[in-house]
Amino acid sequence: MKVLVIMGSPRKGNTYRAAERIREIIQKKVPVEWEYVMLKDAHLEDCRGCYMCFEKGEEYCSLKDEASPLEQKMMDADGVIFASPVYGFQVSYLMKLFIDRHGYIFHRPRFFRQKALLLTTAGFSGMSDVLKYLNLVARIWGFEVSARVGIRSHATFGPLPPYVMDENERKLQVAAAAFLTALQSGTRSRSKLFDVIGFHIGRAPIDELGDLAPKDHKYWKEKGWLEKGKRFYVDVPVNPLYHAIGLMVEWYMRRRIRKDLRAVIKD
Ligand SMILES: Cc1cc2nc3c(=O)[nH]c(=O)nc-3n(C[C@H](O)[C@H](O)[C@H](O)COP(=O)(O)O)c2cc1C
Repeated sequence: MKVLVIMGSPRKGNTYRAAERIREIIQKKVPVEWEYVMLKDAHLEDCRGCYMCFEKGEEYCSLKDEASPLEQKMMDADGVIFASPVYGFQVSYLMKLFIDRHGYIFHRPRFFRQKALLLTTAGFSGMSDVLKYLNLVARIWGFEVSARVGIRSHATFGPLPPYVMDENERKLQVAAAAFLTALQSGTRSRSKLFDVIGFHIGRAPIDELGDLAPKDHKYWKEKGWLEKGKRFYVDVPVNPLYHAIGLMVEWYMRRRIRKDLRAVIKD
């Protein structure tokens, strides 16, 4: 089993130590290959917003950096830990850059086999916003998110009170156990409502835009995701009620997109 940690802190500090604790807990139970990507050491250039990856494909990106090998590392892993400290009530700039450099994956999701654990640390606040954001990113990219953990760990006001340390340890234990269970299961569990709606929300513009978004359209078509009756990206049980809600959302989105397209064509 292989776990990859995408480390969004610029130092081996609180977030790194929390990830290390998760590693210890898991490796005590089973042998796991563990790798860190320290984003501060990765060569990632600033996204220039040229839209080339969306329109023609990521292989046409003019930036020659490590975005592509990092994507491959995630693909080769069984589990990915997205780890970021809370900086200014959000993910660190390193994590945001990493996400922007892989922005095309929001259009063409791919990590359906991999499990994710989301980890953040903060002095006092902002953890829920970071976890909410990482959850959105990971799930739209295709991951099954099996654990989310935010712990308090300030850096400047001396040691943490013992009750905070106990609470942190308990949270890390729970997250590590859930992540390990998901990794060991080897299968994908039933799709949640959020994921089913996400599939339909993604499908509406890609199908309606057609040749206006050729790369995305080809990708979705080749995967069979545009076929009528398709319920999700991969073959997992989908609650019929979730499917019905997804279809309604898709129908509404298609209507809006058609209206926009008609208005643009008229103009
Ligand atoms: C630039 C910067 C911004 C921060 N912003 C917040 C914040 O918005 N909310 C918070 O509770 N802590 C904030 N902190 C504290 C860190 O989130 C906290 O100490 C975290 O554990 C640091 O993790 P690290 O050692 O892995 O970098 C900030 C720290 C730094 C350096």
